[in-house]
Amino acid sequence: MISASWPANLGPVICVVGARPNFMKMAPILRAFSVNTPAIPTLLVHTGQHYDKDMNDKLFEDLRLPKPDINLDVGSATHAVQTAEVMRRFEPVIDMHKPSCVLVVGDVNSTLACTLVAVKKGIPVVHIEAGLRSYDRKMPEEINRILTDQIADRLYTTERSAEANLVREGIAAERVRFVGNVMIDSLLHNREFARTPAAAVAAGGFDPALIGSPEGYGVVTLHRPSNVDHPDALASLLGALSEITRQLPLVFALHPRTKANIERFGLGHLVDDARLILLPPQGYLEMLGLMAGARIVLTDSGGLQEETTALGVPCLTLRENTERPITVEQGTNTMVGRDVAAIRKEAAVILAGHGKQGRVPELWDGHAAERIADDLATWLLDQHQVRETA
Ligand code: UD1
Repeated sequence: MISASWPANLGPVICVVGARPNFMKMAPILRAFSVNTPAIPTLLVHTGQHYDKDMNDKLFEDLRLPKPDINLDVGSATHAVQTAEVMRRFEPVIDMHKPSCVLVVGDVNSTLACTLVAVKKGIPVVHIEAGLRSYDRKMPEEINRILTDQIADRLYTTERSAEANLVREGIAAERVRFVGNVMIDSLLHNREFARTPAAAVAAGGFDPALIGSPEGYGVVTLHRPSNVDHPDALASLLGALSEITRQLPLVFALHPRTKANIERFGLGHLVDDARLILLPPQGYLEMLGLMAGARIVLTDSGGLQEETTALGVPCLTLRENTERPITVEQGTNTMVGRDVAAIRKEAAVILAGHGKQGRVPELWDGHAAERIADDLATWLLDQHQVRETA
């Protein structure tokens, strides 16, 4: 029988967040843990990988995430330094709090860094959003995913293809549970609180009438190093966007890396377009409202591919591959790479009203976090009981 309260001698679950795409995954998990029977005690650790008001504080507010119990304040650096610094600062946290396990989400540098520390200290690691693979090892996230999954103890997946990927890499199927998508839990939970697109545009200092005409508007985000760190690649994508603005205005939420590179490469003239509305990184509720009202989304984000599928909004992914194939097979996503002709062609299909309708994938139903809470509590309590009776 499952006990009604958490054993006093079983530590908390250390929940790690580091960068923006982690926050919307963690919010529903913390909520589900707090109402689970028994409630699962947690300690929220923020590595500080993202720290700006726009990239961090605003999302914490929108998602009603509690203030982190501990902030490691690592900030920006090269991958090696950032990863090493998270590891160095995370180790004493484990020593002090003796967690029952460490829970990591997604694929950012903080995910891998905390996993490595925990595993080497004999603390079980739980990975949420396990098994996604782009099969592109030039992506830093792909390396983070492969290594985290190899050494994590409990792996929760968002789509069935993920388990097949894991098994192919020699990971035992009994470590894997298909639970659905916590990011979609957040989306469904917050949908009614989404801010209007007009409010987001006005807050950026633009006239909301710009997106008010019957032709509607599109939404753009770009931040992958492969798209924005090379002048030619970035220039060609910006060129493709300005072609699309002849058909409808585009709201472009600029990641700090992209903004800096547009300036550094002298590409400002390519975004000097009255129908390209440049906004700072958006809050969660602004982005949700902008996406939900858009006719088309153009992005290189992983999260937006899933969110547009859940919202039924056509999405063009400006990458050569995706680690989230279900968004293409069942959802509204189309891969177009960086090829300007392909972007133009597929955008025209969508704007002519023939974009993918898609359907919502299995278990993207708003209850993934509850399934994780239920399974994780049972798993931890069973192991605890075995230790106690040994
Ligand atoms: C990270 C994740 C990526 C995720 C993205 C979402 C890794 C390997 N990458 O990439 O998977 O999709 O977050 O945004 O972990 N910066 C700021 N303010 C901040 C944070 C960053 O200005 O709060 C700037 C800094 O100049 C920094 C640059 O953005 O050098 C990149 O930040 P970093 O965390 O290294 O990677 P992201 O590109 O954000």
